[in-house]
Amino acid sequence: MTASIPPIAPAHLPALLAAAPKAELHIHIEGSLEPEMAFALAARNGITLPYADSQALRRAYNFSDLQSFLDLYYQGAGVLLTEQDFYDLARAYLAQAAANNVVHAEIFFDPQTHTARGVAMQTVIRGLARAQEEARRELGITSALILCFLRHLSEREAFETLEDALPFREAFIGVGLDSSELGHPPEKFARVFARCRELGLHIVAHAGEEGPPAYIWAALDVLKAERIDHGVQAVNDTALMQRLAQERIPLTVCPLSNQKLQVFPDLSRHSLPALLDGGMCAMVNSDDPAYFGGYVNANFQAVFAATGMDARAAWQLAANSFEASFAEAGQKQRWLEQLNGSFERAHDAAR
Ligand code: HPA
Ligand code: ZN
Repeated sequence: MTASIPPIAPAHLPALLAAAPKAELHIHIEGSLEPEMAFALAARNGITLPYADSQALRRAYNFSDLQSFLDLYYQGAGVLLTEQDFYDLARAYLAQAAANNVVHAEIFFDPQTHTARGVAMQTVIRGLARAQEEARRELGITSALILCFLRHLSEREAFETLEDALPFREAFIGVGLDSSELGHPPEKFARVFARCRELGLHIVAHAGEEGPPAYIWAALDVLKAERIDHGVQAVNDTALMQRLAQERIPLTVCPLSNQKLQVFPDLSRHSLPALLDGGMCAMVNSDDPAYFGGYVNANFQAVFAATGMDARAAWQLAANSFEASFAEAGQKQRWLEQLNGSFERAHDAAR
């Protein structure tokens, strides 16, 4: 999918990026827990957080790498206990997404983070599902859930989590792999992903965030991942770049996450422009917006300002987000028409 996009003055680019309809495909619902909500839920549930207030918590968000973030992310998720908590969390994210002109979101959740604390799978899924249904009716945003296995835990524990989730099979469309990447290659989960494929689940995996291109190859060849989450290290492997481009394997890129976790020395050095130039089906996502400084439009604004990408890249990224989604073909076509309409309006306004 490409289109001939007329040039647009850089001054008009921020409005164009904000207004464009888009899909978000890489968002961890636990990573949308804003410090203010963390404190409100902690108070509601009688939990004490080791920070004076939400401002102090936000000030602690200085990360040196993925693990330094994950330590705070798992601590934050500890305030989520009841179905209402999961509902409130997802409802707030979906309202933010809709305000960012996200028309469709495919949302990760980490059940093991909750079941390990005695929260039932049903509590998590019912709360999220109620928010999804309400947001669809009230905000017109569609969404789907993707269950992620924590890769720092064992494959046996992933199998147990899958068993636990199967009574709610209709509530999620696929499975993913997240948490600490280095030292936990995709091969560790070969058998559980084979079982998930037999069950007809979509397969995605985080790979090539901090890990080497070899982890992306393994996610494709061993897990049979249909999308790669992050994948930004692919630029270091020419043969891999060719394969990703030829097979149109999507990369769900998260610029502010990569900046905060110091994956690149500076956002101006981000690999997104190189990935697009290489013909990759990459798009922009927020990953953990409460921790990394913004929702999807903030990610668009920051990476465009830092790299100088243009309106053509903006159209391509939004079109890629629809192409890469697990929605049906007719729906993708309708979103693409909405996208073209939004670009025509932006162009008229810029005249
Ligand atoms: N990488 C790996 N695991 C995660 C992330 C991430 O960016 N966010 C939440 N869990
Ligand atoms: Zn992620």
